[in-house]
Amino acid sequence: MLILGIETSCDETASAIIKDGREILSNVVSSQVKFHKNFWGVVPEIASRKHIEMILPVIQESLNKAKVSLKDIEGVAVTFGPGLLGSLLVGLTVAKGIAYARNLPFIGINHLEAHLYACFFKYPHLTPPLIGLIISGGHTELIYISKDKEYELLGSTRDDAVGEAFDKVARILGLEYPGGPVIEKIAKKGDPSSISLPLSHFKDNETLDFSFSGIKTAVLYYVEDLKRKNKPIPLENIAASFQLKVAEMLLKRIVQAINLRGVNKVIVAGGVSSNRFLRSFFKEKISRGVDFFFPSMELCTDNAAMVGICGYYKLKEGKTSPLSLDANPSLRII
Ligand code: KG4
Ligand code: ZN
Repeated sequence: MLILGIETSCDETASAIIKDGREILSNVVSSQVKFHKNFWGVVPEIASRKHIEMILPVIQESLNKAKVSLKDIEGVAVTFGPGLLGSLLVGLTVAKGIAYARNLPFIGINHLEAHLYACFFKYPHLTPPLIGLIISGGHTELIYISKDKEYELLGSTRDDAVGEAFDKVARILGLEYPGGPVIEKIAKKGDPSSISLPLSHFKDNETLDFSFSGIKTAVLYYVEDLKRKNKPIPLENIAASFQLKVAEMLLKRIVQAINLRGVNKVIVAGGVSSNRFLRSFFKEKISRGVDFFFPSMELCTDNAAMVGICGYYKLKEGKTSPLSLDANPSLRII
């Protein structure tokens, strides 16, 4: 069965063709990063305009690369939230049009769930119960996935998302956007224990929520102080110390979740899960008997393959959506 997956929730216009949920025939991602770079973040108005320009050529390219035509497609899956409203509407409207015109099953996909399916795709025999951590530019969600594949939100960020913190710290350091890859790169040359940054604390010891604005502000004050004193800014050391502290914060919550639910398998997904330092830190630091699962690198950041894969499984379970489905910018995992 061939599924067309479409993703336009943020600043990637993406389309993919998935065969039987197991084979990615094509996975085309047109990034808008160069249009948003100068603004240090995604500008919603620019994003939706670029999606309108790119969506049809990107879908056509995904069909060409898969050597199929629209006539061969047997279902259309599209992200309907969470994300930017104007951006979501572009993909959603085109997907509805194709499904209606060709009388195909239409499947609305939760972007967060799609990130998890990027991981299930790599490990098809992985079965819940599991702890899930979704870390991206817009999300930091710690979840419990029950035996029946039901999601329960255990904790989320109270301020910045992890990827957002990487992006903001990169901006403070005068690096480029998006910040995650460049911070990971320069951190390799830095000493992670050279600068002491704060671990976030909540009054409630039991909470599984996160906070990343404190560490970002600590980096800002540190840099401003050095600038005032006309001292050089140790970019590599700051990047390494920041990255280590973020890894420690995330691991602390993972350990709490593991203990709370007695589960020893953890899946980590979303753009930030492509960070190699985080991956090895989690695996090294956690006690024996806990297994970590990450998506392949190309399926960590936003793409439509994960949407098509998720769509295939939803369709198999009979979970299609009406064509009246609306975009939901603040859709949650539960
Ligand atoms: O999943 P994604 O493509 O989009 C959202 O759904 O938000 O994630 C993008 C985020 C950006 O904030 C980017 O800086 C971060 O993922 N990111 C990384 C790395 N690669 C991307 N963060 C840390 N290390 C990386 N290697
Ligand atoms: Zn995403």
